[in-house]
Amino acid sequence: MNATPGSGADPDALIPYAFERLHQDSDGGEAARLEAQSRLFEEADPLAQLPPLPEDAEILDAGSGTGFWALRLAALAPRGRITCLDRSPELLDLARRRLAALGPRASFLCQDLRALDLPRNAFHLVFTSLTLAHAPDLEAALAGLTAAIRPGGWIACFEPVEQGRRFCSVQPPCPNLELLGDQILEVARERGSDLGVGLTIVHQLDRMGLEAPSLRAYGAALHGAAAGTCAREVIVPLARAYLRNRWDPEALDRRIAAALEEAGRPHLWLHFHRAVAMARKPSQGLGEGGPSAVGQVG
Ligand SMILES: C[S@@+](CC[C@H](N)C(=O)[O-])C[C@H]1O[C@@H](n2cnc3c(N)ncnc32)[C@H](O)[C@@H]1O
Repeated sequence: MNATPGSGADPDALIPYAFERLHQDSDGGEAARLEAQSRLFEEADPLAQLPPLPEDAEILDAGSGTGFWALRLAALAPRGRITCLDRSPELLDLARRRLAALGPRASFLCQDLRALDLPRNAFHLVFTSLTLAHAPDLEAALAGLTAAIRPGGWIACFEPVEQGRRFCSVQPPCPNLELLGDQILEVARERGSDLGVGLTIVHQLDRMGLEAPSLRAYGAALHGAAAGTCAREVIVPLARAYLRNRWDPEALDRRIAAALEEAGRPHLWLHFHRAVAMARKPSQGLGEGGPSAVGQVG
């Protein structure tokens, strides 16, 4: 793997990941990638970290994508309301379909994090998943989201964290495969994404005067893969082909499984690290004042 992503020398060296096409309109392929990605992290159960919410809580999922987490968030407040916010109308449509059974308990806002127009002091919980990593102005996005939390309410961001200089690691250690992590980080940076954002968020929330900032980390197994040189010979070319051909994630999984079988190598796991960065808005608010705006959402 000699090419430097973004150098123009070898565009095929770019490693696939869901942020690949975030700046384009979403189609079924993008939605499938988001789904597969969310399923990977479901086992980590990030929602288990959340504080208990009132039954009628108002919840905002900012960057809700296909509504994967929004549906699960809604279950935390059986008489509450969930607001899905995303800049992609296509993804919002998918979320709308997914949450149809909730009826008026679900609402949908097509907004950009860079120009949020949300009611102040409205939400018991503001949640993000793999969205602030792509925010061009993290500080502004957090300020906008925090203004929308009601005093005493929470923000919880399930975002990537780099472990050391990588945001993914391999068990048992496999230097060839770890190169993938380096490339992913580099590609992400070129695209304006920060895959260490989890840690930055928690510091930023602290600086903004929110209470009880915390970061709880998880690893999630992404792929079982073959060890040793097989990584260079099999996994890297597969990853390149995935990007070039826009395979769906299941196709990539099938091909990796077939390659594993053929190679007869021991199993090895590639982990992507994400964490829940969380904090509470003081019950006196953060000085923005104003009455609770519940009811204005939607
Ligand atoms: C990687 S997806 C995550 C989707 C979902 N939260 C999940 O975990 O399955 C990022 C989402 O953030 C949205 N997004 C990215 N940048 C945004 C912005 N500036 N404003 C609003 N939404 C944005 C994308 O459209 C996409 O739905």
